[in-house]
Amino acid sequence: MSTKKIYKIKKKNFIIFLLFIALFIFGIIEIIFCIGKLITTSTKEKENKIIIKENNNNDTKKDNNKDKRLDKLENIDKKIDYFNYNYIDRYLNYKENNKELSIEQIIKNVNMNLDKTHYEDKIPAKNLNEETILVNKYYYLDENYVPNNLEKINNQYALDNMKLVKEAKEAFEKLSKDALKEKLNIIAMSAYRSYSYQIDLYNRYAKSDGKEKADTYSGRPGHSEHQTGLAVDVYNKKLPYTSFENTKEYEWMMKNAYKYGFILRFPKDKEEETGYHFESWHYRYVGIDIATYIKENNISFEEYYATKIKE
Ligand code: DAL
Ligand code: ZN
Repeated sequence: MSTKKIYKIKKKNFIIFLLFIALFIFGIIEIIFCIGKLITTSTKEKENKIIIKENNNNDTKKDNNKDKRLDKLENIDKKIDYFNYNYIDRYLNYKENNKELSIEQIIKNVNMNLDKTHYEDKIPAKNLNEETILVNKYYYLDENYVPNNLEKINNQYALDNMKLVKEAKEAFEKLSKDALKEKLNIIAMSAYRSYSYQIDLYNRYAKSDGKEKADTYSGRPGHSEHQTGLAVDVYNKKLPYTSFENTKEYEWMMKNAYKYGFILRFPKDKEEETGYHFESWHYRYVGIDIATYIKENNISFEEYYATKIKE
């Protein structure tokens, strides 16, 4: 073989060798890159799995807490439909301070806001312009709230210029008319009162009796249900309204008011719930169904609201 030919073969082998080396290096780089990718992916997956696991753990922790809290309330949520899960901490706190009360009573009292302070923990009244509106020492009406459809009560059954919401006015006129058939006078002497009227009235009472006493019989501005146009004070034309309790008309009202959709709003044994002393003269229109339920169950409107109205 000539030297030239040998040199050519060697050159060819060398090029093949170089190509092989290049391929080898490229292969190694590719393998390293793939392994790197694999490691990163699996670490990320691991991290994700850890996060998911932690989240699951948190959920379980939350559920456990929920179960534990409900345990303390004897899982009452499954037994009574007015249990409100949003109030669970309030229920537990109230229970802590009122150990003698049944769980049912605790739920009901908290739903009535008895764990809150009159006039301090205020809530805007709900169900505006509806028969179910509740206004008391917790629920208040805005100074601009004037109910829709106020109408003047016929003078035969009321003092001058007494107004109620249409349905209440019609029901009251019917009630008063039927009582009159039995020679009984049930006359409206105070009905709808505006926010500004209530300012004057309350201030007058507070000035003569002091705020503490006034609060037992007069709503502060925004907190009187007279502003709803659904409340009416009555008298019998002969005795002052504060003596209504001693009249035949009161007896008649106790027997019949619910048939027209009215309830005695501040009964004798419900002062803690209503926030007011007994008022034999103050009636509230709630419609016949609710009035019948309240009468049959001997409950206050606050109790009705706490157990029957979903917030
Ligand atoms: N007398 C009742 C409580 C009122 O002022 O609304
Ligand atoms: Zn009244």
